Amino acid sequence: MKHSTKVGIIGAGPAGLTLALLLQRKGIDCIILENRSRQYVESRVRAGLLEQNTVDLIRELGASERLDKEGLEHHGVYLSFNGVRHRVPFKELTGGRCITIYGQQEVVKDLIQANLDRGIEIVFEAHAKHIEGIETESPSIFYQHNGEEHELTCDFVAGCDGYHGIGRQHLPKETYNEFRIEYPFSWLGILANVAPSSDELIYAYHERGFALHSLRSETVSRLYIQVENDDTVDNWPDEKIWEELSIRLGAEGWSLQSGPIFEKSITPMRSFMIDNMQYGRLFLAGDAAHIVPPTGGKGLNLAVADIRFLASALTNWYDNQDDSLLQSYSQDCLRRIWRAQDFSNFMTYLFHKQAAHGSFENLLQKSKFDYISLSKAQATTIAENYVGLKEI
Ligand code: APR
Ligand code: PHB
Repeated sequence: MKHSTKVGIIGAGPAGLTLALLLQRKGIDCIILENRSRQYVESRVRAGLLEQNTVDLIRELGASERLDKEGLEHHGVYLSFNGVRHRVPFKELTGGRCITIYGQQEVVKDLIQANLDRGIEIVFEAHAKHIEGIETESPSIFYQHNGEEHELTCDFVAGCDGYHGIGRQHLPKETYNEFRIEYPFSWLGILANVAPSSDELIYAYHERGFALHSLRSETVSRLYIQVENDDTVDNWPDEKIWEELSIRLGAEGWSLQSGPIFEKSITPMRSFMIDNMQYGRLFLAGDAAHIVPPTGGKGLNLAVADIRFLASALTNWYDNQDDSLLQSYSQDCLRRIWRAQDFSNFMTYLFHKQAAHGSFENLLQKSKFDYISLSKAQATTIAENYVGLKEI
């Protein structure tokens, strides 16, 4: 079956869904093709840290009703090193910016609803198989849906299909360099029915490994611990997780509340990117072009930042027949991507156990941590990267 639209979007993650809403606002037709079912996409548990820029965009799109009610603003973060805790305040160091905690699957639910309310077509369980004609003015996406073969012809293809998608596979290899670090540790993440034990997030280095205290609401906590890459959740009964979290996050006069765990999963840690995100009429955005380790909470925010550039570039092309922003799309995105890669890598090395306790590398790690409390300049560097730079 043949179909056509202006912008064919592969992937209904945060990237694809925000792109469709921005285009629809400008009267540019698009269709989203999504591999998975709506139910699957809406229940996929991921991180939940939104930068100010991301919250602003969701508001601008008129999809923030629940985020405004349920999102939890945070104005600082605790950093801990073997039980010594230091708070980095965002407001005073960043001119009033903050972060908001709101689960990614909640963002996705809200964005899907907003797309459907505005009549944007999302074809769930549509498996994009290949893309043809990206060097022509009418590329096509070939996909399968309900056991049938379909072709979607469009002016542009947006590959918003994540790390494992087909978008990146269609960029000619000679057009980009690829950069990758696979870290020698993973995160075991849990969701638990217990009130958060802290008013702000806690990132902790401990000689037994990293731990993070986050939350989803006043009654649900989200916590993570560093585990081995070949570890499995079966090695981690609930009591062992709480015991380990309590040791790693521990500080004098503070105790961790435990409660029933209802989600447990292990995620590998990776830094990955390519330094060109476009070729002909194909444009990549989000995880399709870059992955950051979750230590800086940047994944979703970077995806949304790419989309801002892509939507402006496509709008400029349709409104003014001007392709200058399309030409500079990758370069415009890469400044922020490199910054987020550096910050995520910095936070990862600062808080994870890699070298023996008391080794030279470990003492450098400690010195970097101490420097945050000694120097307002260093605390500001962390705060402005964490809340996200406004200017890039
Ligand atoms: N055909 C159709 N859809 C596809 C295909 C395909 N061949 N391949 C992948 N997809 C879909 C996936 O099922 C997924 O829903 O593309 C979507 C990509 O969404 P995300 O992985 O959420 O990526 P993105 O929108 O870039 O958002 C980045 O998500 O992975 C997290 O931590 C990351 O927070 C970051 C955010
Ligand atoms: C989360 O709440 O899931 C979360 C928060 C901060 C991070 C990573 C994940 O850096």
